[in-house]
Amino acid sequence: MLGVNLVRYAFLVAAAALPIAAGTPSAGCGKAPKLITAAAASTPLNLTSGGQTRQYYVKLPENYDKDHQYRLILTLHALGGNGQLVTVGQGGYLPWYGMPALINDTTGAIYISPTGLNNGWWNTNGSDVEFIKAAMQAVEEDVCIDQNLRFSTGFSHGGAMSFILACALGKQLRAVGVLSGNPQISGSCPSPGTEPVAYYAEHGVADQVLPITGGRQMRDRFLKNNGCADKTAAEPAKGSGTHIKTQYDCNPGYPVTWVAFDGDHTPQPKDKGASKTFAADYTWEFFSQFK
Ligand SMILES: *[C@@H]1O[C@H](CO)[C@@H](O)[C@H](O)[C@H]1NC(C)=O
Ligand SMILES: *[C@@H]1O[C@H](CO)[C@@H](O)[C@H](O)[C@H]1NC(C)=O
Ligand SMILES: *[C@@H]1O[C@H](CO)[C@@H](O)[C@H](O)[C@H]1NC(C)=O
Repeated sequence: MLGVNLVRYAFLVAAAALPIAAGTPSAGCGKAPKLITAAAASTPLNLTSGGQTRQYYVKLPENYDKDHQYRLILTLHALGGNGQLVTVGQGGYLPWYGMPALINDTTGAIYISPTGLNNGWWNTNGSDVEFIKAAMQAVEEDVCIDQNLRFSTGFSHGGAMSFILACALGKQLRAVGVLSGNPQISGSCPSPGTEPVAYYAEHGVADQVLPITGGRQMRDRFLKNNGCADKTAAEPAKGSGTHIKTQYDCNPGYPVTWVAFDGDHTPQPKDKGASKTFAADYTWEFFSQFK
């Protein structure tokens, strides 16, 4: 028995030291989808979780290829929103947070836009973590994703929930994009919540809805989880019309990027005079580094 345990221990140590290998196909790879069609981007799919019927939309790439391992990207709405608004880009969001416009179909991604209870992500008793896990499972059993390349992004309550998912799912998520979130409004980080997850966040220095202190707290948790050199970040002055991006020095594979911008609570921050937001570009720039 001792021998077996030692072997197992040696294996675990070796596995932990290896870089993350891309390419863990989900059960849906190689099979014709039964559940998800192009229609799921506009007609929600339903599942029962915690005794309630819950809805989620799924967007496949054009010319979905059942043998290609796609990225999986969760796109979570804000308080008062729903999954449908994210799909069409109404209510302040770019469609699917602007990701499909940046990700070509060769690289490809599959998106899930779920709807929270009472149009938010209160995650009472972990109910939304359970629902989102169930939606991911249903999608991964039906279509082909690379289980090493799962992501979550969202604004405000959707950012808070992405943070909670990073705590709850740990390395099952490759990275999150937390846009003006908060560490408390989707419940507290489930214990232990110490696994590293690559972490992109942006927050307005003049945010009057969810102050930037909460954004810093979430960032600091993942600076610790990801073994980053402790480093304070410069932030732009109010009224400067600019943003400052800080890339921390972390354990290999687990970077943290923090963008502080001069602005209030918005999913589409822009520099003064700019015609478009940097939010989508920075999120995809961050997610795309993982292969
Ligand atoms: C899910 O439920 C909604 C509301 O009842 C319904 O409109 C929709 O068609 C259902 N989706 C599917 C795929 O059956
Ligand atoms: C899509 O992106 C990949 C990765 O950046 C690139 O290699 C490929 O050439 C692109 N394809 C098209 C059609 O733009
Ligand atoms: C949450 O869980 C607690 C303890 O199990 C239970 O007493 C409470 O009713 C639950 N709340 C909701 C909203 O389900």
